Amino acid sequence: MAYQTLIVEIEDYVALIRLNRPDALNALNSQLLGELGDALKAADENEKVRCIVITGSEKAFAAGADIKEMSEKTFVEMFWSDFFGQEQDAITRTRKPVIAAVAGYALGGGCELAMMCDFIICADNAKFGQPEINLGVVAGIGGTQRLTRFVGKSKSMDMHLTGRFMDAAEAERSGLVSRVVPVAKLIPEATAAARKIAEKSSLTAMVVKEAVNRSYETTLREGILFERRIFHALFSTEDQKEGMSAFLEKREPQFRDK
Ligand code: CAA
Repeated sequence: MAYQTLIVEIEDYVALIRLNRPDALNALNSQLLGELGDALKAADENEKVRCIVITGSEKAFAAGADIKEMSEKTFVEMFWSDFFGQEQDAITRTRKPVIAAVAGYALGGGCELAMMCDFIICADNAKFGQPEINLGVVAGIGGTQRLTRFVGKSKSMDMHLTGRFMDAAEAERSGLVSRVVPVAKLIPEATAAARKIAEKSSLTAMVVKEAVNRSYETTLREGILFERRIFHALFSTEDQKEGMSAFLEKREPQFRDK
């Protein structure tokens, strides 16, 4: 499918989705988020995709929701359009693993989009922030909730109340990102991580994603029960038999997603 605000490439079972509104530092407007939802759904349904990477440019992953698009909106317009509510659901409904590869600015909705992904690898020039307070608003697509879960209340409050930016080292220290790499290595590193995931059983990877995400949605006791039940359930798959046989026979497993 042709997109106007995205570039999508599929290679070695990895879909690389590049946000592409360079004149607006990849600001997230309705078109971009709509297309992103479509691209993720298409990747989820495509047998040639086993892992997805979302990235931007070296200067900006995304500098937030598009301020030009929303500045004149009224409460009633925002309410009836459910501004970005459905788009957020579409992104977070993706069942295959999604990595955010962040270079440059990831601000406001850009930081929130990165946090909707399963994990974040960032470049050493990355800058994360929730500066909505400077615009007289609050984060609108999950920032107050997800950033707090990632980095804790104190740092989340600091970021949201002062609007300051967090650099890559602080983001790694705080647990917001899983690794920091030199900017020139961001895409090779992120796609290599995605290829590593793509080598596994896709079925198992999707179950692992569900289980980790469940830890955000439920109590510890319920989450542990959920994990135990799906651990048991995986013993009904061919990939569990193959993975364990391959280990015992000292060979590489050949997973078939069954
Ligand atoms: N929306 C719309 N356009 C944006 C934008 C945004 N969020 N961020 C940058 N742009 C545009 C600029 O308007 C500018 O366009 P023009 O050349 O047509 O004027 C272009 O991108 C380049 O930006 P700058 O000239 O400002 O670039 P810079 O290098 O001087 O500064 C920056 C970079 C610090 C990221 C600065 O652009 C900035 O502060 N952007 C806004 C960041 C922000 O407030 N984000 C939160 C948005 S609200 C939100 O996201 C709500 C939510 O949770 C859903």
